[in-house]
Amino acid sequence: MLDVIKNRRSIRSYIDKSVEENKIIEILKSAMQAPSSKNSQPWEFVIVDDKEILSQLSKVQHRAKHIKEAPICIAVLGNKNRFLKAGKWMQDLGASTENLLLEATNQGLASCWTGVFPKNKVVNKVKITLDLPGNLVPYALISIGYTNEENEYIDRFDKKKVHRNRFKNT
Ligand SMILES: Cc1cc2nc3c(=O)[nH]c(=O)nc-3n(C[C@H](O)[C@H](O)[C@H](O)COP(=O)(O)O)c2cc1C
Repeated sequence: MLDVIKNRRSIRSYIDKSVEENKIIEILKSAMQAPSSKNSQPWEFVIVDDKEILSQLSKVQHRAKHIKEAPICIAVLGNKNRFLKAGKWMQDLGASTENLLLEATNQGLASCWTGVFPKNKVVNKVKITLDLPGNLVPYALISIGYTNEENEYIDRFDKKKVHRNRFKNT
């Protein structure tokens, strides 16, 4: 298993240290390197480092409080102008978001995925907070920063979830 896969955990507390610009670029490069349906690349990103906007984002839903503690948050957005068939873009953005998280780990940073899409209420709050044009749909908010917390590896492999040739409930 890749070390970054083992070491990535959702970390919700950050120390007061800013994230270097070159690391943010590497993270975004990785996010944009993800596979996407027919190579549609239906994503856009907003880097948020303004304390007031971070505070507003931390209130968009009850499990977003950690965003206020982070030096940056990257909003992952879907671009409707690049959407193909219904549902495909969500898979594309999932792949991109996971790349983003893994690269953050690779850069020695802690991160946490905050869910936005498909909850309309949360989607609308993020749209207003980030002043988004109508073609952009907020998908996820990723808080990123340095931490003092240890990333504990938990082995989640479960043989019972693996089947060969046909599904068998054993
Ligand atoms: C689609 C999605 C939405 C999530 N939403 C939130 C969230 O709103 N707030 C939060 O603190 N964690 C959120 N998480 C993180 C999960 O709680 C976390 O990934 C899960 O508990 C497994 O822990 P790990 O990431 O440390 O391996 C989300 C993860 C995913 C994939």
